[in-house]
Amino acid sequence: MSESIQTLINSSRELLPASDSPRIDCELLLCLCLGQNRAQLIARSDQILTTRQYRQLCSLLKRRQEGEPIAYIQGFQEFWGRSFMVDRHTLIPRPDTELLVEIILNRFDPSSRKVIDLGTGSGALAVTIKQERSNWQVLATDISAATLNMAKQNTLINSPIDFLQGNWLDCIGHACIDLIVANPPYIASTDPHLTQLRYEPRNALVSAGNGLRDLATIIEQSVRVLSAGGSLLLEHGYSQQPEVENLMKAVGFVTEKFNDLNDQPRAMIGYRE
Ligand SMILES: C[S@@+](CC[C@H](N)C(=O)[O-])C[C@H]1O[C@@H](n2cnc3c(N)ncnc32)[C@H](O)[C@@H]1O
Repeated sequence: MSESIQTLINSSRELLPASDSPRIDCELLLCLCLGQNRAQLIARSDQILTTRQYRQLCSLLKRRQEGEPIAYIQGFQEFWGRSFMVDRHTLIPRPDTELLVEIILNRFDPSSRKVIDLGTGSGALAVTIKQERSNWQVLATDISAATLNMAKQNTLINSPIDFLQGNWLDCIGHACIDLIVANPPYIASTDPHLTQLRYEPRNALVSAGNGLRDLATIIEQSVRVLSAGGSLLLEHGYSQQPEVENLMKAVGFVTEKFNDLNDQPRAMIGYRE
C-alpha cells in the first residue's frame, strides 16, 4: 500500500461512530506511528507511509474503531497541561476533574498543609497539587496496587509525594489532615453511559447505592481524620449535589457548592469548624 498522510486523514471518518473526533484521533495515531507531532504531520502531508508504518497504523485504527479510548492506545492523557501515563488499570483523568485543582488553588492559600488525594488513579490530582503547591505534604492513596504503581511512575522526581494502598481512610490513623480531596467512583451500576466506558476499570467508576456509597463512606470517615478547621473536597455526579450536601451537613460540615464550566453542579467542599 502507498498511502499518504493526507489520504489517510481524509479517510478518518471510518473511525465513526466509535470516535466523536475522528480526524483528531487519526492524526494522533499517525503521530504515534511516524514519531512526529501534529504540526510536522500537516507540513509533510504528502509523505507516504512505509509498509511497517501503515500496518502499525491499521492495527491502531482498528483498536479505536472497536471503541478503545485514544488515551489507552497512546498510553497517556493530558491533565492540567501535563502528560500522565495511563493503562487499563487506571482511570483516564478527565478535564472535568481540573475543576478540583482550580477550587484548591482559589480556596486554599499556599501555607503549609497535609493533603490526601483519595483514590488517586493516575496520580493526576496528587501530582498536580504537589506541582502547584510544592510546600504541601501530599499523600496519594488507592485500593488498587496496579493503579498506585502507575501513579508512582507519574510522580516527578523534584516533587515527591507519599503513597499508601488502602480502602478509603481506613489506612489513616490520626486526625491530622488539613485537606482531603477525592474524585471517587460515583456512577450508578444501572447508568446506560457505562457501555461507553467499558475499557476503564469498573471499580474506578461504579459505586453501589445509586452511585453514592463511596461518597458517603468518605464523608463519614473524613470527620475522624481531618484536623480542626480541615476540609473535604469531593467531585460528584451532576444529579448528586443535594444528597452529597445532606451527607456532609449530617456530620457537621459547612458546605460550599461548585459548578463546572457547563454550569453543572459537580463539586463540594465541606469545611470542618
Ligand atoms: C474516579 S477514579 C479517580 C482517579 C483519579 N483521582 C482521577 O481523578 O482521575 C476513582 C479511583 O478510586 C479508586 N478506588 C475505588 N474504590 C476505592 C476504595 N475503596 N478505596 C480507595 N480507592 C478506591 C479507584 O481504583 C480509582 O483509581
